[in-house]
Amino acid sequence: MSKTAIFYGSSTGNTEAAAKEMAGQLNADIFDVAGKPTDKLAEFDNLILGTSTWGIGDLQDDWDEFITELDEANLEGKVVALFGFGDSESYGDSFVDAIGTLYKTIREKGCRIVGACDTEGYVYVESTAEVDGKFVGLPLDEENQDHLTDSRIEAWLAKIQPEFI
Ligand SMILES: Cc1cc2nc3c(=O)[nH]c(=O)nc-3n(C[C@H](O)[C@H](O)[C@H](O)COP(=O)(O)O)c2cc1C
Repeated sequence: MSKTAIFYGSSTGNTEAAAKEMAGQLNADIFDVAGKPTDKLAEFDNLILGTSTWGIGDLQDDWDEFITELDEANLEGKVVALFGFGDSESYGDSFVDAIGTLYKTIREKGCRIVGACDTEGYVYVESTAEVDGKFVGLPLDEENQDHLTDSRIEAWLAKIQPEFI
């Protein structure tokens, strides 16, 4: 039986709410990175990592510390999917950049990254989460497109679930 876990960091609850929603739908374990669940990274075959973006393009505060643990973890052979919240209107030049930061941290670590999304339907200027014309994970925007959050999550989970081991 494969094991799936969601690791999230959230400052005002948006990423947390989505992480809980996903955990419910997938029957996955869930960890707030604020609790430094370093040992848990090794226990799961499939990881979903969620972060909001703060400052101008910065990681959410708790990820700021946990990113080192992620960087040092052995992710060889795992399947990893990324999601995050941002505000495409007020922060259109750094939209969901923290997803891009997670991606850069894990892309050379021997894991298979799944769950890339089309940029269609998002209105923004620049994002480090956009690589080769696609988002490397699922962007969610509670400020401007909250009506799309649930359906985006549902469609994304349906896409990544068959990729899990
Ligand atoms: C001070 C501040 C800075 C922010 N910076 C960014 C940013 O650079 N890029 C972005 O996409 N969103 C940015 N946001 C929007 C947040 O990421 C967004 O509100 C998100 O839903 C928060 O999620 P959380 O409650 O899980 O932390 C910023 C919001 C605030 C208040």
